[in-house]
Amino acid sequence: MRLDKLIEEKLNTSKKEMKRLFLRGLVKIDGQVTYSESQNVDSQLHQIEVAGQNLETNEKYYLLAKPSGVVTANKDAQHQTVFDLLAPEDFSPALVAAGRLDRDTQGLLLLTSNGQLVYDLLHPVKKVSKTYLAKVNEVVTPADITAFADGIEFLDGTRCQSAQLKIRTVDFSRKESDVELVIFEGKFHQVKKMFLARGKKVIALKRVTMGPLELGDLPIGSYRALTLAELQQLKPYFR
Ligand code: URA
Repeated sequence: MRLDKLIEEKLNTSKKEMKRLFLRGLVKIDGQVTYSESQNVDSQLHQIEVAGQNLETNEKYYLLAKPSGVVTANKDAQHQTVFDLLAPEDFSPALVAAGRLDRDTQGLLLLTSNGQLVYDLLHPVKKVSKTYLAKVNEVVTPADITAFADGIEFLDGTRCQSAQLKIRTVDFSRKESDVELVIFEGKFHQVKKMFLARGKKVIALKRVTMGPLELGDLPIGSYRALTLAELQQLKPYFR
């Protein structure tokens, strides 16, 4: 969470007191004086000391294996949402999803109360990688691999960054392919639109990685808290 928000919450400081704490060099992260009020901190990753007192954050980080049929939204009149999958004791209104998976897409979704981390993970300049496994209703070819590497242009003219496409298996009789695709941005319906631009339709889609996070064998529909090791791998994205 933002350092100034944490100080305000824990020490009930006014804006004036906050300024004074920073100006006097009384705010330290990992023993170093900081003047960055907006710094994203988590006491699992940083030692946060303010006027000689250690402050603790209480952010939540969950890795969810989203099932298809569930929407990435806070509320939905018709469908279950990703937040409905959480046990009441794990839910918090502060939780946000790091990106949006379509209703029919399965797989890895990070839910966290650390909104600043989500903003940074999704920011295009960060180029966070996302790996998808897709079933496509056509034979995917080496020409498709080259087109994805060169940068796909959507039918509306939008250009995508270079993406890494691998063909896993092709069923020539059924005219279906299983592929793995790594992209470094997150446009709306990106994977489906990339294949549509090649005249092919995605018929099943699953996200298996996001940056350093991996879905692994987490059963679809379940979730777990991030481990400390996983959180440490996300530290480079804490601004
Ligand atoms: N690309 C898509 O087309 N859909 C998703 O849900 C995620 C990426």
